[in-house]
Amino acid sequence: MIPVGKPTIGDEEIAAVNEVMHSGMLAQGAVVTQFENEFAEFCGTKEAVGINSGTAALHAALLALGIGDGDEVIVPTFTFIATATAVSMCGARPVMVDVDPKTYTINPDEVAKHISSKTKAVIGVHLFGQPFDIAPVKDICEDNGLFLIEDCAQAHGAVYKGKKVGGFGDAGCFSFYPTKNMTTGEGGMVTTDDLRLAEKVRRVINHGQSEKYLHTELGFNLRMSNLNAAIGRVQLSRLDGFNKKRQENAAFYNDNLNCTGISTPFCRDDSVHVYHQYVVELGDEFKMDRESFMNFLREKGIGSAVHYPMPVHMQPLYKSDFNKADCPVSEDLSKKVLSLPVHPGVGISECEYICETINRI
Ligand SMILES: Cc1ncc(COP(=O)(O)O)c(C=O)c1O
Repeated sequence: MIPVGKPTIGDEEIAAVNEVMHSGMLAQGAVVTQFENEFAEFCGTKEAVGINSGTAALHAALLALGIGDGDEVIVPTFTFIATATAVSMCGARPVMVDVDPKTYTINPDEVAKHISSKTKAVIGVHLFGQPFDIAPVKDICEDNGLFLIEDCAQAHGAVYKGKKVGGFGDAGCFSFYPTKNMTTGEGGMVTTDDLRLAEKVRRVINHGQSEKYLHTELGFNLRMSNLNAAIGRVQLSRLDGFNKKRQENAAFYNDNLNCTGISTPFCRDDSVHVYHQYVVELGDEFKMDRESFMNFLREKGIGSAVHYPMPVHMQPLYKSDFNKADCPVSEDLSKKVLSLPVHPGVGISECEYICETINRI
């Protein structure tokens, strides 16, 4: 089976973990600091703070920005649930808005429409590896005194108007889950140019501690370990290569998928897409329904997945609060999208086989 997602782990990652194991310094320490410095340099931000998941990165960034009870944060509804639940975890209300039908990313007009006196921040998601249209969203935030958070969980190394994502807003939040463009096993990172915000994030993730055993605020234990950072340092050094391979696979699909009713992903011409997922849309003219298509692919040894079968505002967790949400684009997309294997472990011969198999339908 060609899996739809798989981490690329080699001897170097294993050796790096072994080294930390032998050092005895397993928890947060010097290796995390090295990884943070390298990641900040990669993103072009002044600071990066290592955390134990992408969800924790969003949660900690929101808390450090002072988001809490009674506040509203605008989020796209076509995303992974954590973009919204991180807001709820702070006691604030995620306000779900619709996405652009071509890029699947947050629609700036919808952001403007949903601002209220309680709105404190906007989280835009660089979905599937493609940056959202940052400039208009940033303008709206600046005009209305709102914080801007980039959810970069799926877009390590993606570029918008010549600059890498993670440094456009008040904070960028990354995930290093195993299927992401790079991994630490589990892990996350907050990037920022605001040194005071970085310090606040460091306190939030470490028991609200400002000096050893001096606790000035309520905090959590959301720290990254040296073990995870050791994997991350190696993966970061390989990230450009991983992204290049994802782009090559995506380009092959773009050029060779040729089946009535299947449309290939739209790619903004002011951005560099890093194809966390390669997502096709199944139109009405396509001969099979999505489930039968996925079963057909599975029988042929091809993994696929749906990202995402239900927009966040329709999830049982949020449905009662958002049953009147007007997000037709996201509702429609959730019925049509399908992700094909694009990760660096997929060779061109496998892409060829996948295209031939689909084109024969
Ligand atoms: C868009 C988005 N945001 C946030 C997260 C949460 O990251 P993690 O799984 O590391 O907590 C993910 C991970 O799947 C994601 O895809």
